[in-house]
Amino acid sequence: MYDFTPDPARPKAETYADLVAAARALIAGEPDAVANMANVAALIWQFLPDLNWAGFYRTVDGGLVLGPFIGKPACIRIPLGQGVCGTAAAAGATQLVPDVHAFPGHIACDAASRSELVVPVIRDGAVIAVIDCDSPLSARFDAEDARGLEALAAAIAATV
Ligand code: SME
Repeated sequence: MYDFTPDPARPKAETYADLVAAARALIAGEPDAVANMANVAALIWQFLPDLNWAGFYRTVDGGLVLGPFIGKPACIRIPLGQGVCGTAAAAGATQLVPDVHAFPGHIACDAASRSELVVPVIRDGAVIAVIDCDSPLSARFDAEDARGLEALAAAIAATV
């Protein structure tokens, strides 16, 4: 059994270091990408407070397709360049969105979402997936969250 209780008083850098270590341990030796994405989505959910959605979109046939996640059912396909996820995938760059209503073309999967962080997962120079986190709080994510999720993406890129 894996059970992690987030401590909001803990410095974010430590939380992300623990999250990355837990993800590495959980996916070590397991080649199944769906199982690994499912467990990593669950870890994000457990480690990071104030989320209403956490999970993956995968690059499939030149677009993004919904992957394992925690949260409400979400839109299944997102064209590259559209929404926060499609922008992150097309640019190969993290999108930190303090106010989703101010992001042109934001795709609202859960009306409760107020802020969002999307990080590309890059393998051999290609964006193979994105990690998407949504929060019901405005400006929930900052540069430390971006660096932390980027470290997570790098740690799992070979096995998702
Ligand atoms: N808001 C995202 C869509 C995915 S949901 O948040 C899960 C976007 O604009 O790409």
